Amino acid sequence: MNSTATDIIVAPSILSADFAALAESIKPVADAPWLHVDVMDGSFVPNITIGPPVVAALHKVTSQVLDVHLMIVEPERYIDAFAAAGADVLTVHAEACPHLHRVVQQIKAAGMQAGVSLNPSTPPDVLEWVINDLDLVLIMTVNPGFGGQKFIASMLPKVERVRRMIEAAHADCLLEVDGGVDINTAAPLVRAGARVLVAGSAVFGAPAPAQALKAIAKAARAGLT
Ligand code: DX5
Ligand code: ZN
Repeated sequence: MNSTATDIIVAPSILSADFAALAESIKPVADAPWLHVDVMDGSFVPNITIGPPVVAALHKVTSQVLDVHLMIVEPERYIDAFAAAGADVLTVHAEACPHLHRVVQQIKAAGMQAGVSLNPSTPPDVLEWVINDLDLVLIMTVNPGFGGQKFIASMLPKVERVRRMIEAAHADCLLEVDGGVDINTAAPLVRAGARVLVAGSAVFGAPAPAQALKAIAKAARAGLT
């Protein structure tokens, strides 16, 4: 991946889609290059969602990049299952991994791109000794666990800081943000250095998800100028 690429990716998060009609509900966002899939275990976060079978089902009906965000303890136990299911990018939380470097290597050895996510209160320093091994850093701009939460504006300087870290390390690593992304927060996030923007409720909660996706992408691109 190329950290200097100016392409913006808006990744719709299926957390806010209709789980009873998933294949239908992702059709309006088929133009998005990535789909974001939130996996929650009721332990790392206070909510439970889905696992490898749903990723495998999505893999059958779309060729979009499946960007799988693990909000689970001991994520190393499930790396092979998500690889077999067809995950393309697998992101773990630094807070859930005492042996983060090892987990990152395991993800890459399983043939996926490796991402590391940080909760809002986690300092970026934990990335320092793994950043050159990463394909993606995911900065949470809400506390993980639920869609539709309020964007934490104090994360903007954190995104700027991580962008500087990526550049200083010459790391080939994308910078993604997740939580409270909408037409108002997209441009400031891009200005701060984000290039992949996850949007759940602002896409699937809108009356016309396809138009909402386009509007967010347009707003995000305004942050490049
Ligand atoms: C929250 C999830 C997000 C969620 C974002 O823990 O990681 O991906 O879907 O939802 P919105 O865009 O509604 O804040
Ligand atoms: Zn997510």
